[in-house]
Amino acid sequence: MATDLTPSPNAPPAEPCAMVVFGAAGDLTGRLLVPALYNLAAAGLLAEKFALIGLARAPLTDADFRAQLGEALHRYATGAVDPAVWNALAQRFFYLEANFEAPDTYTGLRRRLAEVEGEFNTGGNVLFYLATAPEYFGSIVDQLSWAGLTREQTHDWRRVILEKPFGHDLASAQALNARLRRDLTEEQVYRIDHYLGKETVQNILVLRFANGLFEPLWNRNHIDHVQITVAESVGVEKRGGYYDRAGALRDMVPNHLFQLLALTAMEPPTCFGADAVRTEKTKLLEAVQVLKPAQVAAHVVRAQYGAGTVGGHTLPDYRAEPRVAPDSTTETFVALKLTIDNWRWAGVPFYLRTGKALARRSTEIAIRFKQAPYAMFRATPVERLAPNYLVLHIQPEERISLEFSAKVPGPAVHMAGVGMDFCYNRHFGGGRAIGYETLIYDCMMGDATLFQRSDTVEAAWRAVEPIFEAWSDSTADLVAYPAGSWGPQQAQELLGRDGRQWRGADHDSCG
Ligand SMILES: NC(=O)c1ccc[n+]([C@@H]2O[C@H](COP(=O)([O-])OP(=O)(O)OC[C@H]3O[C@@H](n4cnc5c(N)ncnc54)[C@H](OP(=O)(O)O)[C@@H]3O)[C@@H](O)[C@H]2O)c1
Repeated sequence: MATDLTPSPNAPPAEPCAMVVFGAAGDLTGRLLVPALYNLAAAGLLAEKFALIGLARAPLTDADFRAQLGEALHRYATGAVDPAVWNALAQRFFYLEANFEAPDTYTGLRRRLAEVEGEFNTGGNVLFYLATAPEYFGSIVDQLSWAGLTREQTHDWRRVILEKPFGHDLASAQALNARLRRDLTEEQVYRIDHYLGKETVQNILVLRFANGLFEPLWNRNHIDHVQITVAESVGVEKRGGYYDRAGALRDMVPNHLFQLLALTAMEPPTCFGADAVRTEKTKLLEAVQVLKPAQVAAHVVRAQYGAGTVGGHTLPDYRAEPRVAPDSTTETFVALKLTIDNWRWAGVPFYLRTGKALARRSTEIAIRFKQAPYAMFRATPVERLAPNYLVLHIQPEERISLEFSAKVPGPAVHMAGVGMDFCYNRHFGGGRAIGYETLIYDCMMGDATLFQRSDTVEAAWRAVEPIFEAWSDSTADLVAYPAGSWGPQQAQELLGRDGRQWRGADHDSCG
């Protein structure tokens, strides 16, 4: 990770390497990887000695491949595309028609890599990017190893980036990790969670540990509770086939929401090194109190969307979505109340919620501070003072706001809730990013701080495992919510029972 946590123009170009993308004709490559590589190239952060080999089944020539990715770039770029930058980059892209399961794919790849290394002087460094369905992870890594492609020599490196999901439960995550360990060291494996590519997510650590202001308050003495919301306004769109097997809990909680939870609640690491940071994140996830299946109903709400309107668009019933079973009991919304068993957080609930077809796209971490202890303003009892929230807005906008009470001007002492706002774009300017830039750059530089380690992944699955167990018995607790709402009433009641409520997500923006 660069010192300022993002590859800025002040950072040096990444190390020379060849990048091999499995699944190079897919959505992820066109929509996210190539625009991110383009942004790196435009910022001078890609090595001169760089080349990319893409593998997929489609019969494409190098020229077809470059044209296809050029179209994707124009569709998904975060700013105007400079043809000179793109053309120079595209000349380094090559295509290999391949079947991931055929051994000759890997002998062909070895040959192609040797040619590319010779032409572009990439120094023997290779980044394998598995932009494929997870069922291929094990066999691709096995065959790369069989072909001798994962072996590192003294002066080069071989690294593998995996896209989530990392297993679909604890047992499958453990099996995947064990399989990867047969052929790779943990240092060679980079499990990507694109949430960690977002500036505001990386900034959580800076906010907490580079300021004297917040950390003294960041504990059970001053914080009443924490809310983490990852709300999507879209329905399942074209992902019905995958999503109906996964559901909101599996798809979002052990990865994205737990990454936000871990960064918010972890202890200070001894340094900003990959292992120090990842050890603290793992310790935090290990401290999440594992529910007993009998406790699940009281701590977890699961729900499925029905027909409704989101932002003027009508969404059908989830069960009427393409490739979703008509009698599906898959949840599209989940809300959880978690507790963390350590000294810092004893007695502080963490409420997490995520769902599809919600009123607005919004990801935020809201830290609610305790009320003032005494009502010296007689006309305004303590419980009617505006609550103090520190809110880390992750998307769609990247900003931080602080909400507190202020006196309304005038002779009488009247109070109103007001806010202070720090907006990333307004303050720092700069172009928009895909979010993958930092992650790809960091992997090329050998910095795994923002990637998930195997023990972190397993700790996350361990914490949610009893929920799956409880849900496998019965579907009685599956409730409904209309598309375009903030989820079911039961999610409000989850906090209501504790005398709390979700912070409204419809707040002012950077403006
Ligand atoms: N798309 C996203 O936004 C996104 C975000 C986060 C994570 N992910 C994860 O990233 C992975 C890839 O997603 P995606 O959306 O890019 O999938 P996709 O659009 O279905 O693309 C899959 C790619 O893999 C190739 N492929 C599949 N089976 C193959 C085989 N046996 N041999 C050779 N090539 C094969 C396909 O080639 P052909 O086209 O030639 O068949 C295609 O290029 C998935 O695990 C997904 O969960 C995706």
